[in-house]
Amino acid sequence: MAGNLIEEIKRRRTFGIVSHPDAGKTTLTEKLLLFGGAIQVAGAVKSNKIKKSATSDFMEIEKQRGISVATSVMGFEYKDLKINILDTPGHKDFAEDTFRTLTAVDSVIVVIDVAKGVEEQTEKLVKVCRMRNTPIIVFINKLDREGKDGEELLDEIESKLGLKVCPLSWPIGMGKRFKGVYSMYEKKLVLFQPHGKQDDETVEFTDLMDPALEEFVGEEAANTLREEEEVISAVYPAFDKEAYTKGELSPVFFGSAVNNFGVRELLDCFVDIAPFPLPRPTEERMVDPLEDKFSGFVFKIHANIDPRHRDRIAFMRICSGMFERNTNYHHVRQQKKMKFSNPTTFMAAKKEVIDAAYPGDVVGLYDSGNFKIGDSLTEGESLHFKGLPSFSPEMFRYVVNKDPLKTKQLNKGLVQLMDEGVAQLFTRQSTNQKIVGVVGALQFDVIQYRLKHEYGASVAYEPVNLHKACWVSSENDSAMSEFETKRKRDLATDTKGNLVYLAESSWALKLAQENHPEVAFHFTSEV
Ligand code: G4P
Repeated sequence: MAGNLIEEIKRRRTFGIVSHPDAGKTTLTEKLLLFGGAIQVAGAVKSNKIKKSATSDFMEIEKQRGISVATSVMGFEYKDLKINILDTPGHKDFAEDTFRTLTAVDSVIVVIDVAKGVEEQTEKLVKVCRMRNTPIIVFINKLDREGKDGEELLDEIESKLGLKVCPLSWPIGMGKRFKGVYSMYEKKLVLFQPHGKQDDETVEFTDLMDPALEEFVGEEAANTLREEEEVISAVYPAFDKEAYTKGELSPVFFGSAVNNFGVRELLDCFVDIAPFPLPRPTEERMVDPLEDKFSGFVFKIHANIDPRHRDRIAFMRICSGMFERNTNYHHVRQQKKMKFSNPTTFMAAKKEVIDAAYPGDVVGLYDSGNFKIGDSLTEGESLHFKGLPSFSPEMFRYVVNKDPLKTKQLNKGLVQLMDEGVAQLFTRQSTNQKIVGVVGALQFDVIQYRLKHEYGASVAYEPVNLHKACWVSSENDSAMSEFETKRKRDLATDTKGNLVYLAESSWALKLAQENHPEVAFHFTSEV
């Protein structure tokens, strides 16, 4: 591979910020974009404008609900690096979106609210990252408020998230007594200025025993800092980049995103340590980013905000080689050639048509229905990227068509929404009734709303008594056909034609498993 291509790949850092809603993910994202010069908003303290319109959402429904339905990409340049932030919805009903986006990042930053500590959604998302050994940096936010003390939080992170931590900055007080942080990473004091009106005052400070410390933070805080620093350096391991890169050690930073405090330190460390694009597993083999030939996979499909245009944007993560505009690529699932005349990249709020993109980048491909989540594009090789699961849904409703004249639109709408990964559609074999299964209840509203606004179709829902849908398979044909005969009433097919067992209760599921030991029940399906 040519030298400049290698350079391009090595300067990419693609990551996601994950948190429980309200911990400060959007605020932190904004501040990072500000450092990168990707947006210019003076005093973006309560910058709803950015949050609600420009950067992280472009779907009407989101404006209405104020929940980040969409996962978008924000790129910026910082210290000669090209940084891509993949935004992840924090709301639990959109967790599947987030899980899929996490397959397209090389590292993550986890934001934790100092007062609330580790919350439920954070636990779930970190679990997914840990399964894949994704390197994690933790940012403890809102130090301008009273919260849990540092050591308690580190304990909680270790016990609830299962992360081995190493603090690289340490808070000096909190809430009204918050004076700043001491950065063990850069050996400097960063003094807190509320609202980030000017650049934070930073002082090189290699030795905390230096009596000058009192001058900056006062006697009491100086002594506490010295004591705490002694304890943490004894208790926690020193930073080890290799351990971090393997996902075995997580650096922790403290700050206040809304005050733009501690964010630069986080970013400066991030650019030093975060990995450049990593190899990715496919069913066939590992794909190295430095390979000559292009490959990439679709992890997200986004419907056009303008309902008059049916096209969608498929977000593709580039995994190897160089992607070029107007070049023929192989659509592996459809076995056909495709080229793209206006692939876009996302620099914060702006979308731009690009000529080339590199591993680590995410390009938006305008799509009129060719893509599904999980699809791959290559230069000819048949590669199937792994790790894009469909979860077995837990909430179900029958879909009832309220406008028979719009049946075609309804069917088309349902298929397209399912391709986007919004929910799963099952057709009961015995009655042909359509059942929508979702992971979070809000998805029912999203589907109804979008069918109406984008496809002109009206649906109502009716309750269906179901506990779980799981995919079934067996190596033994006669065991399978016996199962199919006995459970006829409870069988459905998904949109790909796979057989699905609809369990009415946990008891029914258990019984089915016991009675049919040669049938395997799967609770996730790779899309
Ligand atoms: P999210 O994306 O993780 O859901 O969180 P978001 O950034 O929207 O932040 C949630 C709330 O927390 C916001 O207040 C935001 O201003 C506030 N916040 C973020 N960082 C800090 C911080 O360092 N200190 C304090 N005290 N607050 C912080 P909001 O009132 O819900 O919204 P807004 O009107 O300020 O946007």
